[in-house]
Amino acid sequence: MKKNQKTEELKRILIVGSGGRENSIAWALSKNQSIEQIYVCPGNAGTANFEKCFRLKPKAEDEKTIINECHRLEIHLVIIGPEVPLAQGWANKMREAGLTVFGPGKDGAQLEASKEWSKALMIENNIPTAKYWSTESKEEALEILKKFNQPLVIKADGLAAGKGVTVCDTIAQSKDAIENIFSGKFGSAANKVVLEEKIEGPEVSIFALCDGEKLIVLPPAQDHKRLLDGDNGPNTGGMGAYAPALLINEQDLKDLTELVLIPTLKGLKKKKIKYIGVIYAGLMLTSSGPKVIEFNCRFGDPECQALMPLMGEEFASVLFACARGQIENAPKLTFNSQCSACVVAASKGYPDKPQKGNKIDMRVESNSSLQVFHAGTTIDEFGNIITSGGRVLSIVAQSENFDKAFELAYSNLKGISFDGMHFRKDIGYQVRNI
Ligand code: AMP
Ligand code: GLY
Repeated sequence: MKKNQKTEELKRILIVGSGGRENSIAWALSKNQSIEQIYVCPGNAGTANFEKCFRLKPKAEDEKTIINECHRLEIHLVIIGPEVPLAQGWANKMREAGLTVFGPGKDGAQLEASKEWSKALMIENNIPTAKYWSTESKEEALEILKKFNQPLVIKADGLAAGKGVTVCDTIAQSKDAIENIFSGKFGSAANKVVLEEKIEGPEVSIFALCDGEKLIVLPPAQDHKRLLDGDNGPNTGGMGAYAPALLINEQDLKDLTELVLIPTLKGLKKKKIKYIGVIYAGLMLTSSGPKVIEFNCRFGDPECQALMPLMGEEFASVLFACARGQIENAPKLTFNSQCSACVVAASKGYPDKPQKGNKIDMRVESNSSLQVFHAGTTIDEFGNIITSGGRVLSIVAQSENFDKAFELAYSNLKGISFDGMHFRKDIGYQVRNI
C-alpha cells in the first residue's frame, strides 16, 4: 500500500470519466473548502471551468496509466463515474494498487453489467421486479413468447450503451425484437437475452451511497429517456431530469429503502461482495406497487447533474468515508431544499449518429443557482469549444419551485448555441405548469 493512501486527509481527488455526470461531481466536490485539487480523467472542455478542477489527459487512458498518475499526483480518493470501467474491474485493480476508490469492483458491477445476474439477485432477495426469463437461444426465446402469449420487453444481458432494450406493444413486435437481438449486432452483450413481462407506470430513480455495509439515500430524481417532447421518439441516455422527484414522498422513500435498497446491499453481502459505490435503482410505480426495472452501479446521467447542486459541502467527506468502508465516520450529508432542473442540449443525429465538431457559442456562466455542465465538448487547436459527442451540455438551475427552476434553465439555454443543437422543451412537465 502506498504511503499517501493511509492518511485520513482528503485533499486531492481524481474522477474517471468525461461526461456531464463527472463534470457535475467535480463541481459539487469543489465546494468543499479543504479539497485542494480535483482531476478529471479524461474530462472535457468544461472541466477546468470550476475552481480547483483540472483536466488530466494522459496519452493512454487505461487503468494502469491512471493508477500511475494517481500515485504521481498523490490522490487520496478516486471516483469512477461510468459503468464500463467499473464492469471491467478498474476499482479492483486500483484497490490492489493501494488507492481508495468510490465505485464497486467487477463483482458488484454485475448489478448493471448483467441483467440476468441482477434479476436473479432481486428474486433471491424478494425485491419486487417484473417477471422474467433468460435464454441463450432464439428458438427458446420464441417458445417463451409463444407460451406467455403477451408482448414482452426484450433486453440484451450485457452493457449496450442504453440501446439493448426494446419495449414492445405487440406480440409481433416482440418476435421482431427477438430476431433482431439474436442477429449479432449487439456483440457479446446479447450472448444472453432477458425477456421481461411488460409493466406500466411512472418511473423514478433512487440512489444510495454505500460503504459495503451501510448506506445513505439521496433525494429521488426523474429522468426523461425519450428523445422528443411528450416522451416520444427513441430511447436515449437521458434528455433531462429533475430532483427531488415529487412522485414519492419522504415516507415512500423510507419504504423503498427497506423494500429495495437495503435488501440489495444485503443480497450483495450474502454473495461476499463488499459493495462500495452507488446503487441506482430505476423503479416503475405500477398499480400493484413499485417494481425495479433495472439497477445501475453508478450515478445516473443526467440525474446526477440535477442532484449535485442539492448536495451539502459534506458530500466529498461522505464519498471518502464510503470508499474507506466507514460511512459512520462521515459528517451528516445535508441537502439543499430547493428544486433542481436539468435540461440536456444534444447534437443533431443523437442518439444514432451524433454530429461532431460544431463550434459552441456560449454566453452563459455557471453560478451558485445555475450551472452549465459539459459532456460531449472539447477544445480545438484554435481554442474554440466544439462538440464531440451526442449529449453536449446540461443546463441546470435551482429555485424555490420547479416552475422557476425550469424557467431559469430554459431562459439561460438561449445563451448557448451550436449547429444542430436540440433539446426537449417539456422536461419536468410532471411538476411544472405547462
Ligand atoms: P433500461 O435500459 O433497462 O433502463 O430500460 C430502458 C427503458 O425501457 C426503461 O426506462 C423503461 O421505460 C423501459 N422498460 C424496461 N423494462 C421494462 C419493463 N419490464 N416493462 C416496461 N418498460 C420497461
Ligand atoms: N439516465 C439513465 C442512466 O444514467 O442510466
